[in-house]
Amino acid sequence: MHIIAIDGPAGAGKSTLARQLARRLGFLYLDTGALYRALTWKALQEGVNLEDETALEKITRTARLDIRPAPEGVRVFVDGTEVTGEIRTPEVTRNTFYLARSPRVRAALLPLQRQFGERNNLVVEGRDTTTVIFPRATLKIYLDASLKTRAGRRTLDLEKIGARQPVPEVEREMAERDRQDLSRRVAPLVRAPDAHYLDTSGLTVDQEVAAVLKLFETVRHQAHPGDS
Ligand code: DC
Repeated sequence: MHIIAIDGPAGAGKSTLARQLARRLGFLYLDTGALYRALTWKALQEGVNLEDETALEKITRTARLDIRPAPEGVRVFVDGTEVTGEIRTPEVTRNTFYLARSPRVRAALLPLQRQFGERNNLVVEGRDTTTVIFPRATLKIYLDASLKTRAGRRTLDLEKIGARQPVPEVEREMAERDRQDLSRRVAPLVRAPDAHYLDTSGLTVDQEVAAVLKLFETVRHQAHPGDS
C-alpha cells in the first residue's frame, strides 16, 4: 500500500492538497485533524472539564467516529450524528489543543488512524502523520506558508461555513496555536528529516498538486520497483 503523509502548520493548505491528491490518484483521504475536532466537539457538547485527561481519554475510547469521503473533503459523524460543519467553528478550533496535547488521547487514536492505511492507498494529513503515525510512508511532505497567507486562507474557510472572524484575529489565534503546537511536549509539530519541504505561499493549488505528483512518481518506483 502507498501512503502519502502531509503535515505542517495550521492553514498551510494540507486539506486542500491532500483532497486533490487523493482524487487524482484514487486514494482514500484521511483528515486526522477532523478526529481531534470531532472529539473536541463531543467534549464541549458533554460539558466535560477539558483539563481532565481521564474524561478526554474516555470520550476518545468510547466515541464512534466515522469519517466518510465526500467531494468537499470528508463528512464526519460522532455517534451517528453528522458534525461536518460544527467541527470547523472557532469554538472547536480554539479548544482542540486540550485533546491534541494529551498523550493518552493520542495513544488511543493511533491504532484507529493506522487502520486506514492497512488496506487502502492513502493520502493522510495532520500534525504527526509523517513522524508518528506513518513514519514509513512512501512520500512525506512538510507543507508550509507564511502566517499571513495561512490566516487569509483560514478566514476564507470560515466564511464558507458562515463564521466571520476578522483576519487580524484569525492571525493572532493562529500564531498562538503555532506556539502551542511547536512547544507542546507530546507530539510537537516537527519536520521529519526525510519530509520534502514545500512552501505554498506563492503557489496555486494546481502547482502544488503537480509538484507533489511528480515527487510521488519518483518515489513510488523506488518503493516498489515493479509497480506500473
Ligand atoms: O489540522 P486541523 O486544524 O484540523 O487540526 C485540529 C487540531 O488537532 C489542531 O490543534 C492540531 C491537532 N492535530 C494533531 O495534534 N495531530 C494531528 N495528527 C492532527 C491534528
